[in-house]
Amino acid sequence: MNQSIIGISSFPKYFEPYIRFLRAKLSPVRFKHCVDVGLAMGKAFNVYGNNPPFDPHGRDDWMLSGLVHDVMKEASVQTMRWWIEKYSPDELSLIPPSMQDHHVYMHGPAGSVFVRHALGIRRSGTFHEAIAHHVGCYEAMSLLARCLNVADMTQPAERYRGCDKLGRIFFGGDLNSAELLLSAWTKEFFEQIRFPVHPAFEPKIAKMTKLLKPAPEFFSREG
Ligand SMILES: [Fe+2]
Ligand SMILES: [Fe+2]
Repeated sequence: MNQSIIGISSFPKYFEPYIRFLRAKLSPVRFKHCVDVGLAMGKAFNVYGNNPPFDPHGRDDWMLSGLVHDVMKEASVQTMRWWIEKYSPDELSLIPPSMQDHHVYMHGPAGSVFVRHALGIRRSGTFHEAIAHHVGCYEAMSLLARCLNVADMTQPAERYRGCDKLGRIFFGGDLNSAELLLSAWTKEFFEQIRFPVHPAFEPKIAKMTKLLKPAPEFFSREG
């Protein structure tokens, strides 16, 4: 926990109320994960956000998106649904009905409206969409959303085999490869534990495999 306390001082001062709220609302493990993803997004901004064509979202917003991305992760699915239905019902139509009972697919859209309407964080549509779609199974994701999706899994609440490799590729500047790896591993893992695999994973993996033509060993969790 020490490391994340040191990390907290790297956030802008005006994040303090959000940090206090998250610390009170979330379990220590989830809170640390949120801090780590916020810091990872600051690092990601230096790699991806600051390059031409200039991304209009500043480093602060990238860090803030990471900090608050899982604000609803530990709520009940009913609570998530309430927030989505009240403030962003169109988001529900983007989630297959059979997956609306799963917090994995519901907490992003719920968190997105929660930060706006409960925490008063009002940023661009891109900012809120990135939080809504950070699970990664959406069409035409923005650069911010794509980075949040990958940064999230470079700082997992529970370490998994391969997360260091994912981080090296991502922070090394190869976002496409990092996304492909993460999508393939996520699909593989969900299938293993018999968790519903969002239908968007398959075409995303196929499209990126065609683009990157990875060798089979690319998908190894070692290396
Ligand atoms: Fe999440
Ligand atoms: Fe997360």
